[in-house]
Amino acid sequence: MQYRSNPLEELGIKHGATKQAHNYLQHYWTHLRDLREEVRSVLEIGVQTGASLRMWEEFFPNALIHGIDIDPDCKRHEKGRVLVHIGDQNDDEFLASVLHRGPFDLVVDDGSHLPHHQIKAFETFFPQLSQHGIFVMEDTGGVVSDFNNVVINALRNLTDHVNYWPPGFPCAEWPHLASFSGDVPWITRNVVGVAFYRWLVFVFRGDNPGDNPNLVPKPAPVA
Ligand SMILES: C[S@@+](CC[C@H](N)C(=O)[O-])C[C@H]1O[C@@H](n2cnc3c(N)ncnc32)[C@H](O)[C@@H]1O
Repeated sequence: MQYRSNPLEELGIKHGATKQAHNYLQHYWTHLRDLREEVRSVLEIGVQTGASLRMWEEFFPNALIHGIDIDPDCKRHEKGRVLVHIGDQNDDEFLASVLHRGPFDLVVDDGSHLPHHQIKAFETFFPQLSQHGIFVMEDTGGVVSDFNNVVINALRNLTDHVNYWPPGFPCAEWPHLASFSGDVPWITRNVVGVAFYRWLVFVFRGDNPGDNPNLVPKPAPVA
């Protein structure tokens, strides 16, 4: 098999998005290609030249594109379906003012790249995604001097939630394949997948385990 370019990469080149240079767009394409018409609301932390916001605007024809940046000059990139909110991604009051624009179908953190900001961005925005929304963390690990992989390790822990099995139940017991009983944390119910790429992580929100309707046991036939 050969690697082929895709329409999102072409838009990345057209608008000069750094995501294209980082080779991230092949992974965005994999996860977003079937959602173009469906996505209504995108939020990206980190506006800078506005290149990626313009790319998203063209890629998602039905979406409002929100950008966050600490640099007031970025306000000039607000036009068409692009809205720019000026503030610090570490400021709770500012974040609350943006949150009420949600729910968001896609949130991308390409802002300060400081590990504690990245974790805060996930904790703040993941719960504000729409039910099948996607959170993307760009630039993780050594590429932003997180040599101890603090952020990667925090996100790696999510895989335990994806693979949750109620303690004490025999494996493959049908009701637990299709629904959880008892006190299961919100994050366990809502993270349905995590995809790690080089310096890039996607976290998928959904309804765990209800997103697998084929496993719902058929009701007993009425006699
Ligand atoms: C990598 S650039 C964004 C590039 C843009 N997402 C793109 O792909 O075209 C990072 C941006 O984050 C902004 N930034 C840095 N620290 C921030 C903070 N604490 N809060 C909000 N934005 C911040 C910078 O001003 C800069 O414009």
